[in-house]
Amino acid sequence: MPDQAIDTLLSEERRYPPSPAFAAQANAQPEIYDLSFEEFWEQEGRERVTWFEPFTELYRWERPYAQWYLGGKLNVAYNCVDRHVEAGNGDRVAFHWEGEPADDRRTLTYADLQAEVVRCANALKELGVGKGTAVGIYMGMVPEAPIAMLACARLGAPHTVVFGGFSADSLSDRLNDMGCTVLITQDEAWRRGAPVPLKRTADEALALSPGVTKTLVLRRTGNDVPMTEGRDHWWHETGSEADCPCEPMDAEDLLYLLYTSGTTAKPKGIAHTTAGYLVGAASTHHYIFDLKPETDVYWCAADVGWVTGHSYIVYGPLCNGATSVMYEGTPDYPDKDRWWEIAERYGATILYTAPTAIRAHMKWGPEHAAKHDLASLRLLGSVGEPINPEAWVWYHEHIGGERCPIVDTWWQTETGMILITPLPGITTTKPGSATRPFPGVDAAIFNEQGEEVGPGGGGYLVLRKPWPAMLRGIYGDDARYKETYWSKYDDVYFAGDGARIDADGDYWLLGRVDDVMNVSGHRISTIEVESALVDHHDVAEAAVAARADALTGQAIVAFVTLKGGVDGSVEKLEELRSHVAAKIGPIAKPANIVFAPELPKTRSGKIMRRLLRDIAENKPLGDTTTLADPSVVDELRLRGADEAAKDD
Ligand code: WT7
Repeated sequence: MPDQAIDTLLSEERRYPPSPAFAAQANAQPEIYDLSFEEFWEQEGRERVTWFEPFTELYRWERPYAQWYLGGKLNVAYNCVDRHVEAGNGDRVAFHWEGEPADDRRTLTYADLQAEVVRCANALKELGVGKGTAVGIYMGMVPEAPIAMLACARLGAPHTVVFGGFSADSLSDRLNDMGCTVLITQDEAWRRGAPVPLKRTADEALALSPGVTKTLVLRRTGNDVPMTEGRDHWWHETGSEADCPCEPMDAEDLLYLLYTSGTTAKPKGIAHTTAGYLVGAASTHHYIFDLKPETDVYWCAADVGWVTGHSYIVYGPLCNGATSVMYEGTPDYPDKDRWWEIAERYGATILYTAPTAIRAHMKWGPEHAAKHDLASLRLLGSVGEPINPEAWVWYHEHIGGERCPIVDTWWQTETGMILITPLPGITTTKPGSATRPFPGVDAAIFNEQGEEVGPGGGGYLVLRKPWPAMLRGIYGDDARYKETYWSKYDDVYFAGDGARIDADGDYWLLGRVDDVMNVSGHRISTIEVESALVDHHDVAEAAVAARADALTGQAIVAFVTLKGGVDGSVEKLEELRSHVAAKIGPIAKPANIVFAPELPKTRSGKIMRRLLRDIAENKPLGDTTTLADPSVVDELRLRGADEAAKDD
């Protein structure tokens, strides 16, 4: 973030104290901050989950690996489903599901969810899944996605959910890396009235993933899809209601891997285990969203393919017995008031979404929300990227009716749970600041030398103590785990984010400091996009940088040198964008491509990314004296300016 923008942020003077009425009824009371690290996590370990066997040791910290709730035995599906039915809450709605096509709706109670999870678990058993079998899940936003995840958890089979917008290559890479033998998918998904061919893409992926020998396929749209005899099985033709006990799991058994982009081309399989993850997700969900399971209607508008969906659509809310809204489609289809129509229909009380979505609604105008009665809302959340104060204030006024506290929650795929956040009813919020570490979280900001900076300072966000839902490593790559998170500083977790702390001690997260971009709240590495580009037969060389974008936060700019004789036409540009979409997924498509005869390099031949970032951002260029050929930059600037003009 440019220094000037940071100064503007920190001079933000608007303050939003909690209302006495909210404070009086809040799950989090001020004393929560007085508990010690051990007291807090001990208490949460006992209160949030039901154990088959209690834990005997709170945590063990063998840096850089932590273990939590050792000796405990439990099952995640039991905690998220069965125990609520046993407690007499089988009739409570777990999901109000809203499909994309008009009037396509389903309500699933906890009793329904239990029946469906058992059925799916039995189907998986028929396909040979048992404790320890790795299962891939490639689905859209249908209730069967959480059902599939919970069915795996019931059997003790770790899953990896792959976002339905990812390509066949991306899916196959993940299935192979985890060693999956079974894939759960669906015929197609709906998106803006058109079917998304998930099964067809899965078939392409499986051609590259011979380890996957069985699939379970949900019928969603009902259109014909090819089924491979012996390998593919219909969801509705498999499984049974027969008893399917919940496998007792050790606290540290693997629950899932979720792949996320790092600074190399290969995504990292972030490992989350059973007890600590569940306690962390449920505890944060309980206090930060102030969930009252009997009366709240909670809506996390993320996709289950991302960690937000894992922790705050599936595991946290269901563990807490929440009634949730789940929506299959996009916010502006068929109309720009779709979300608000849904919020009104179900009387949503809590909404959790991303700044990029808020900015889109802001652009469309407040009249769409104004058409609906949103008086049921009582709390709003934001996640995924720094929220700009204008979007925060718009959200507060036009969606929250100026009465709802906003929780701006900072966390990562790796952290598994929210780590920096206001607590509603306690924290006075400031638009743009995620405010404080959650109780039992030891965060700090370090300068380049590894010293903690005090109020008024800035540097890098670190975590000094472990937390229950912390990643247990990168699957199969211990060296990369240590290198990525534990090498910038000795002994503390380096998150990869820049941050400032203001005079009141509130945190302001400023975005990534590595080669990871954040486009619409999605994490994409520059190198991943570069690899996809150079994979195209006409590309000689490519370098990628991000520029600021009013809607998506950051946007991808690619600088491409084509092979001799190839023309940098508009058609070629579209071809390259489509190529990236096919290699990674549409979210990774560059917003701009600048064709250049040469990329700026040092005399030793390294591409000068810093310069490209400045060109992409249209900023004054810093030191260019190390360039092998300084004229390259002038040429790029000119072409970059041309490109920007075309964009408008
Ligand atoms: C990165 C993690 C956590 C779920 C969604 C993204 C950025 C996330 C915030 C926030 C400022 C944020 C950080 C972080 N980020 N939330 N409230 N304020 N930045 O998960 O894909 O693992 O990305 O998202 O840069 O490192 P992810």
